[in-house]
Amino acid sequence: MDPVEEIKSKIDLVDFISEYLELKQTGMNFRASCPFHSEKTPSFFVSPERQIWHCFGCQKTGDIFSFIQEIEGIDFPEALRILAQRAGVKLEKFERQAVSQKTKILDICYWSAEFYHKVLLESSLAEVARKYLKERGLNKKIIADFKIGFAPDKWDTLFKFLIKRGFKEADIEAAGLISKSSKGGFYDRFRNRIIFPIADSHDQIVGFTSRILPSAEDEKTAKYINTPETLVYNKGRILYGLNKAKLVAKKENQIILTEGNMDVIACHQFGFENTVCTSGTALTQEQIKLLQRFTQNIILAFDVDLAGQTATGRSIDMLLQQGLEVKILKLEQGKDPDEFIRNDLKGWKKSLENPQPIMEYYFSLALQDKDLKKIGDKKEISRLILPIINKLGDPVEKDLWLKKLSADLNVSEISLREALKGIKQPNYNYGKTVSENKIEKISREQRVGEIFAALLLIYPDQRESFLKNVVLDMFPETKIQEAIKIIKDCHQENKKIDSQEVKEKIKEKDLDNYFRYLYLLGENDFKDFSPLELEKELDCLFLYLKEKYLNRRLRILTQELKEEEKKEDQEAIKKISLKIIKISREIATCK
Ligand code: CTP
Ligand code: MN
Repeated sequence: MDPVEEIKSKIDLVDFISEYLELKQTGMNFRASCPFHSEKTPSFFVSPERQIWHCFGCQKTGDIFSFIQEIEGIDFPEALRILAQRAGVKLEKFERQAVSQKTKILDICYWSAEFYHKVLLESSLAEVARKYLKERGLNKKIIADFKIGFAPDKWDTLFKFLIKRGFKEADIEAAGLISKSSKGGFYDRFRNRIIFPIADSHDQIVGFTSRILPSAEDEKTAKYINTPETLVYNKGRILYGLNKAKLVAKKENQIILTEGNMDVIACHQFGFENTVCTSGTALTQEQIKLLQRFTQNIILAFDVDLAGQTATGRSIDMLLQQGLEVKILKLEQGKDPDEFIRNDLKGWKKSLENPQPIMEYYFSLALQDKDLKKIGDKKEISRLILPIINKLGDPVEKDLWLKKLSADLNVSEISLREALKGIKQPNYNYGKTVSENKIEKISREQRVGEIFAALLLIYPDQRESFLKNVVLDMFPETKIQEAIKIIKDCHQENKKIDSQEVKEKIKEKDLDNYFRYLYLLGENDFKDFSPLELEKELDCLFLYLKEKYLNRRLRILTQELKEEEKKEDQEAIKKISLKIIKISREIATCK
């Protein structure tokens, strides 16, 4: 069997998608909020019978391969590799070649993590590291769960280990674990550092970050050193801890976003397993997409220092723009979540239970260390707050916060409004999702045409009576026309739509996704209809389409009539008038 087909037969699409989305059964299909666009009412459907999915909101459609490609942002060979592994399907040589370099790097990362971890647990060279981690409160379980390791203070222990395991220099270099020295030899990238393996959301180790030991800390050396960009590692596409956090995040419908690796580890150790971090970089769109797969609710727990505040502001903007819900975790003690949680677990829990809405956060930030008796301070506060109020999409909310600011500062609302006018309009508003606006709504006529085609597709018995009256021009879209044509041909030639021959024709015309969509469309709403109800429904749809079509023709004829009247061509005028009368009568019968 073709590996693609074999994989499809071995992994159930509903099970697979359930790991990403909360699917609810409706009739014979399953339904969820679409992961590919933001929406309030779920319009993403999965058909267990046909093993296909479709979103009626953003019109995306496909099978298990397109789903994983789309949701993970990966290409086909990678999807094939991941799914084959899961399904236990062996891939032929040529398919493996396409991913071989990646696979080698992943293997190298896996074995390096094992090596570093073993060194940390067992080697005498890791005495200081073990002591340090213990001092910082990490227990054995968390060290094992995160496979934390240690790179000894030597030049090439990892390199030698990997060579002995049979890996090639070039591949180890491509994994970012060694560098070439000026003399031509190789040395380990990570030396005398605590090692944190970084896994992607499929739990594959793709890179490492490493922390210096406090004894070696100085101004010149970076506290953290990371794997450089490799074929499998890109810092902006990874959220550290997501492999462990994802299921809990989905269950609790909330994710805690921190800045540092140690923050993630501390949170997980104390049972807050829905925590991930950006590893100190600015939040990226790709990371937001990753988060969105599991929840729309983000609790930001960034450091309290200036850098943390700036990162918080930027992240709030980006998350809101993508339509996520954001709240801020107040770090009352200590400068980062790691310190807070270890010093004051109760306080942490309290903060987590009552995260701040963003406007409250901005108000407390602007008001902190300010003296409301000083005019300069008042000005400064309004300078900080007004641009944020300006971004609010909801005018009522805008009004409310202006009132609060006016009360806090004891400044009239009128002058605040005046000041607001001077602020540049933002290119988006808080609370309005850009993505939702972007989705093109399909016309009612198109939808009716598609339902009509869908019903004829699913119910062959209805074809005879409806297809003979159908004119292709009745359908407003060429895609529907093409689909109807195929259904019609099948009917006339007495062929089954899912016969190999027809399937190939559909594929040739690039209509396979469209047919998947039509199947789901029909099944969703009409599966329980009796033949009589179906006939009635089809009748209604047919008349609607016919009326629209005739009206289109009527408009064209009226236009032509005008032209002929100008030319005063009596013969032509008469001919067109007759046509117009005929069509008008036909339209009347459609009502
Ligand atoms: N970071 C980095 N390179 C640096 C400094 C920091 O990649 N030179 C990343 C690390 O992922 C780190 C995160 O930014 O976890 C946050 O940095 P910081 O707050 O300085 O570190 P902490 O996580 O608090 O680490 P620790 O508590 O061990 O000092
Ligand atoms: Mn810290």
